[in-house]
Amino acid sequence: MKIQVHVSDVKVGMFIHDICANWMDYPFWSGPSAINSSDDLKKLKNCGIKYVWIDPSKGLGAESCNEVLTQEDENRKISSVLHDAMVVTHQSGRCVNLNEELDSARKILANARKQVVTMFHEARMGKALQVDGAMTVVDEVNRSITRNSNALLSLVRLKNKNDYTYMHSVAVCALMIALGKQLGIEGEQLQLLGMAGLFHDIGKAMIPAAVLNKPGKLTDEEFAIIKKHPTLGWKILKKLPDFHDVILDVALHHHERIDGAGYPGRRQGEALTLAARMAAVCDVYDAITSARCYKNAWEPAEAIRKMASWQCGNFDLQVFHAFVKTVGIYPVGTLVKLKSGRMAVVIEQTEKSLITPIVKAFFSVTSKMFITPEILNLDKLRDSIESIEAPDKWGFNLQTVIETLN
Ligand SMILES: [Fe+2]
Ligand SMILES: [Fe+2]
Repeated sequence: MKIQVHVSDVKVGMFIHDICANWMDYPFWSGPSAINSSDDLKKLKNCGIKYVWIDPSKGLGAESCNEVLTQEDENRKISSVLHDAMVVTHQSGRCVNLNEELDSARKILANARKQVVTMFHEARMGKALQVDGAMTVVDEVNRSITRNSNALLSLVRLKNKNDYTYMHSVAVCALMIALGKQLGIEGEQLQLLGMAGLFHDIGKAMIPAAVLNKPGKLTDEEFAIIKKHPTLGWKILKKLPDFHDVILDVALHHHERIDGAGYPGRRQGEALTLAARMAAVCDVYDAITSARCYKNAWEPAEAIRKMASWQCGNFDLQVFHAFVKTVGIYPVGTLVKLKSGRMAVVIEQTEKSLITPIVKAFFSVTSKMFITPEILNLDKLRDSIESIEAPDKWGFNLQTVIETLN
């Protein structure tokens, strides 16, 4: 059984199974490893991580630790954070069904990708960015999110590893708009949030590709180079005439954390604007649910649980709750096993509860065979979700399931 302990209680001889933090902020972490020397211990204690999971079956136990949490305690903590996110009725604002919107969303994404590639190219060449195209992208994204947010949000996750930086910008744009709507923001303010999402990583245009796309863990020096991208981005955007403060602020502060552990300014709490807090959540969610050259993607539902477990100190709690309402506890595209023994994919959220989405059942676990697809509203049935499953383990292509098995 793995046990969560505070970093100050870690000793030489313990085996670290995992860190309780987002790996994007700690790129030196390459997986389970033993603390074999006082040097290893010093590095861990100085890196800013607060809690880790230790594996007592592979090293020292937690007998001498002051703060100890079991997996059960952790699950209770996650359930309580997610439960609080469900207090207000979910507003999906859905006008058309998912399949109807997927075609438009695909075209919008193709155009958005082209615009972002041009933007990054202009930034790299030192040219002034043309922002008209970006505004059109934000408008189109906004309209698609209004029609059915699930279409664009499920497609934008399917980026390939080489495309990551460009499509990530589009994804953060879409998430900022969806989250902004959830928070009741509209009009020009919503447009600005979308623009801020689209431009948030423009500073990465100035980071050498060998560092940005390096497969494998980064050295301290390489991570220091990556950490320059918020400031570099801010400098690029600052040159544009009348470019709005919200966009500049998000470019500069999207890696700041509520407890001051982020970069580049180690700003904390009230010093962070709502837009920067929103961008922090959208940025991390998209990063950890996307396959990277050095890391496999987490399933969206797993990512939401992980973010709930780290939210304290990392994210603004109110913003995180609104985000959970936006994407769901079982986001669209999540593969689930139902108590009835069927495998299903989440295709819509329901208005009433985030734990009873609409799913498409398509496979029987008992007979190990595909079944005639059936749309099930779990809010109205006795069946319910038993577990989240990994599509890779089952060999399913869920996008095909969503789109073709009608
Ligand atoms: Fe960034
Ligand atoms: Fe980012």
